[in-house]
Amino acid sequence: MPKKVVVLGAGPAGYVCAIRLAQLGQQVTVVEKEFLGGTCLNVGCIPSKAMIAAGSLLHRLGEMAAMGITAKDVRLDVAKLVEWKSGVVAKLTGGVGGLLKNHKVEVVMGTGRIAGRSSVVVKTQDGERTLACDEIVIATGSVPIEIPGFAFDEDRVWSSTGGLRPTRVPEHLVVIGGGYIGLELGMMYRKLGAQVTVLEATAGALPGQEKDCVKVIEKSMKKLGIALLTETFARGYEHKAGKSYVRIQTKSGEDTIVCDQILSTVGRKPFSAGLGLESIGLATDSKGFLAVDRQMRTKVPNVWAIGDIAGQPMLAHKGSKEGLVAAAAIAGGKDEFDARCVPAVIFTAPEMASVGLTEAQCKEQGLQYKVGTFPFAASGRAMSLMETEGFVKVIGDARTDEILGVHMVGPEVTELIAEATLAIEMGATCEDIARTIHAHPTLPEAFMEAAEAVHGMAVHIYQRK
Ligand code: FAD
Ligand code: NAI
Repeated sequence: MPKKVVVLGAGPAGYVCAIRLAQLGQQVTVVEKEFLGGTCLNVGCIPSKAMIAAGSLLHRLGEMAAMGITAKDVRLDVAKLVEWKSGVVAKLTGGVGGLLKNHKVEVVMGTGRIAGRSSVVVKTQDGERTLACDEIVIATGSVPIEIPGFAFDEDRVWSSTGGLRPTRVPEHLVVIGGGYIGLELGMMYRKLGAQVTVLEATAGALPGQEKDCVKVIEKSMKKLGIALLTETFARGYEHKAGKSYVRIQTKSGEDTIVCDQILSTVGRKPFSAGLGLESIGLATDSKGFLAVDRQMRTKVPNVWAIGDIAGQPMLAHKGSKEGLVAAAAIAGGKDEFDARCVPAVIFTAPEMASVGLTEAQCKEQGLQYKVGTFPFAASGRAMSLMETEGFVKVIGDARTDEILGVHMVGPEVTELIAEATLAIEMGATCEDIARTIHAHPTLPEAFMEAAEAVHGMAVHIYQRK
């Protein structure tokens, strides 16, 4: 007998879970209050990467003189850019709608509330509808955090959502928060022509990421002309005559920065407001996450949680994987979330990507490890692309040679990390990668050379013994 399953939220966690449930023969209804595809497809991963691609193209045109290419009269039409980006989003969200339909998943547009262990009430445009079900999957995602003094009005103060539908390129953009979004969008706006100042509370950009990689990003920000103010907090702002006066607190005291646009990106928090968790005796932890077991089951046996609401890292691919695990478990499978690692990709300039342990984490865990690095400056392919900034770093277990972590900064590393993820997932050693033939000339050769460098045997750099 198929089970009746209600999935709350159609982001990359919820819609993937719904499709897999349908593939496994379950009777599925997805409830979505705003947009199919969730944050990721509508106001997150996809629109940001589309706009970042445009910014990079524009910037690159100005760098081609060394290749003998001069681009004249290059102009940016912001309205056209936003229209193109929206078209990309529409194609993908339309695709999700089509997939759900083809898999015979019922979609109910409205806000869902859990009304009991077997009941979800949906407030739709046409009134309330009650859905009886055997299982409930919570995939309600997350929302941006607001800080005092910087309420999102999507006019003077943008959240990431406002930052992805500009009507103009700001003259001076102040970005609060030098994390994933702050750097991705900050660098994008710089490439589109804005002056950019990033205010970061901690001692450096991208806290928690591999330090050596972050150094390359910070250097690149400087080269691009982005001001990064660390250990700096924004306290509030006043708006006068078309300008915002942002009050900041730095190590050396208070100051004011004048700008015409503020983008506040200080993190996201899980979203469960009005969800009716109390009706089934569920509560979130102090950070707003729902605790789950390895099958994504909450402490209520027929209620599951996946995606951003189920904990860090708040990444689309982590949520989708959790959706697949929950779907299989609901259909009676023994699947568990047993991934050894979740890759992270950051679309800065140059790009950054990581999987597995950082050196700092190896030290904290008392692991004996060896490191090999290979610079893109020594890669023929990187040179032919005129993108030689950055490196690949492989961290191997000093006793077993197993790969513990891989960190990359440089051209196309958001793609290159896939091989490293597979390597860790399959328990590969540095020697396994070193002995694998990598096609020439390609960027993945840098991963092979970094793995060789762990043993002091990289061929295309000189390693002093
Ligand atoms: P969401 O995508 O947030 O979807 C949840 C859905 O639930 C929403 O559609 C919401 O409307 C709906 N919902 C909520 N409550 C209810 C309710 N009561 N009833 C009905 N529906 C409800 N991650 C990456 O991995 N790579 C990236 O490059 C990346 N870039 C990003 C860029 C930006 C600017 C932002 C903001 C985020 C980015 N992320 C990225 C993070 C990624 O978007 C999230 O991790 C991902 O969307 C989480 O998926 P989810 O399904 O858990 O939640
Ligand atoms: P974030 O957690 O990545 O970064 C927030 C930054 O703001 C941190 O560096 C933090 O120290 C700083 N900060 C916090 N409070 C501050 C304050 N008052 N003043 C100044 N700085 C302050 O959060 P972000 O950038 O909002 O992104 C949210 C999440 O979305 C990410 O953590 C990630 O999970 C996801 N995301 C993933 C992307 C990707 O995979 N490429 C891209 C964008 C977002």
